[in-house]
Amino acid sequence: MNILLLGNGGREHALAWKITQSEKVKNLYVAPGNAGTATIATNVPFGATDFPAIRDFVLANKIDLVVVGPEDPLVKGVYDFFKNDDHLSSIAVIGPSKMGAQLEGSKDFAKQFMKRHHIPTARYESFTKDNLEDGYLFLESLQAPYVLKADGLAAGKGVLIISDLQEAKDEFKNMLDGMFGDASSTVVIEEFLSGIECSVFVLTDGNSYKILPVAKDYKRIGEGDTGPNTGGMGAVSPVSFADEIFMKKVEERIVVPTVEGLKKENIDYKGFIFLGLISVNNEPMVIEYNVRMGDPETEVVMLRIKSDLVDLLEGVASQTLSEKTLEIDERYATTVMLVSGGYPGEYEKGKVVSGLDAVTEKSVAFHAGTTTKDNHVVTIGGRVIAISSYGINKKEALANSFENAGRVQFEGKYFRSDIGFDLE
Ligand code: AMP
Ligand code: GLY
Repeated sequence: MNILLLGNGGREHALAWKITQSEKVKNLYVAPGNAGTATIATNVPFGATDFPAIRDFVLANKIDLVVVGPEDPLVKGVYDFFKNDDHLSSIAVIGPSKMGAQLEGSKDFAKQFMKRHHIPTARYESFTKDNLEDGYLFLESLQAPYVLKADGLAAGKGVLIISDLQEAKDEFKNMLDGMFGDASSTVVIEEFLSGIECSVFVLTDGNSYKILPVAKDYKRIGEGDTGPNTGGMGAVSPVSFADEIFMKKVEERIVVPTVEGLKKENIDYKGFIFLGLISVNNEPMVIEYNVRMGDPETEVVMLRIKSDLVDLLEGVASQTLSEKTLEIDERYATTVMLVSGGYPGEYEKGKVVSGLDAVTEKSVAFHAGTTTKDNHVVTIGGRVIAISSYGINKKEALANSFENAGRVQFEGKYFRSDIGFDLE
């Protein structure tokens, strides 16, 4: 089978790593990929949202399956692009339709969907410039802190949590005035939930589903979860508080109504569903939906899937997922992200990455923001390398990740040494 994987981050390197372990794969191409994917697959030089280039490549190279890493192509409708083209319609795309991708592409759509299907989430209302005053009144009816969310995609920056009421009102107006461009022409205001978060991943063929290993990511730049948000500084799996009882609630109250809701509404969805959850007094509630795998969660989740991922994806494409088995590795997995100095603010690119050869067999170094220049691996992003490891427990897995984090070098390297600090 020939597979095209779209994307270029750590998530895609981890997916590529898992995909290439399958005997079913003849060729794996990654568009555009990074220096890491280049070592195990063939990078091809076009972007994940360049639909005409994707079409030409898929036809010329007899691609059977397209796996979509990031949300952008999904929200832009890559699934429908294939479905509506006579030459492409028989090629499987792992990802939701454009309508399904609205679960991530529009917070208002996601909240309405949850309301329709009685899925537990924070109380909310949505506003535009036309009902600004109602927004102020709604803010006054809530307790601090106030949660403001741009409706559309805002590169992970569209959520503001503000403790002062007047400041919340001002920022609410700024958002409607274009703080995040079109993405904030509608703003969701919601009740603040207090608890601990985790990421649950579901693979669905539209009828049945499999729940993948649960993970927790660490978004803040600083130790102890301080400082600005990043794309993710590390992740662990499993998550101690997401035990059997908690996961049963997640399945019954969230996973089943989500998959059933999509089906009832005739929304085509064959792909990953990422549930951003919060445990409020041990009761799971949805903070957000994403329509793809998480990054850096994928860098631990892939380590813990024992089954052939390509076999599972085939099951998704042919809607026979219920006949497939998902075997999970009992071991603990951790990933520690090495980032460029200055990130998530300004940082320099083009730093030579050395020591990758010295990484021991205890870890896998997934490339996040790298490229190849003059036969060297160089940095090209804020998040550079994710060091993923197994262990019999969290402590051992982390020790392996930190040991190898020390072996990889580039100027300005920084990582958090407290990943998993808040879990047992
Ligand atoms: P989102 O982009 O919706 O995931 O929001 C980004 C982050 O903001 C989440 O990971 C949470 O940490 C936080 N957040 C979002 N909504 C809420 C809420 N209703 N209550 C508390 N924290 C929230
Ligand atoms: N790690 C969170 C995300 O991928 O959105």
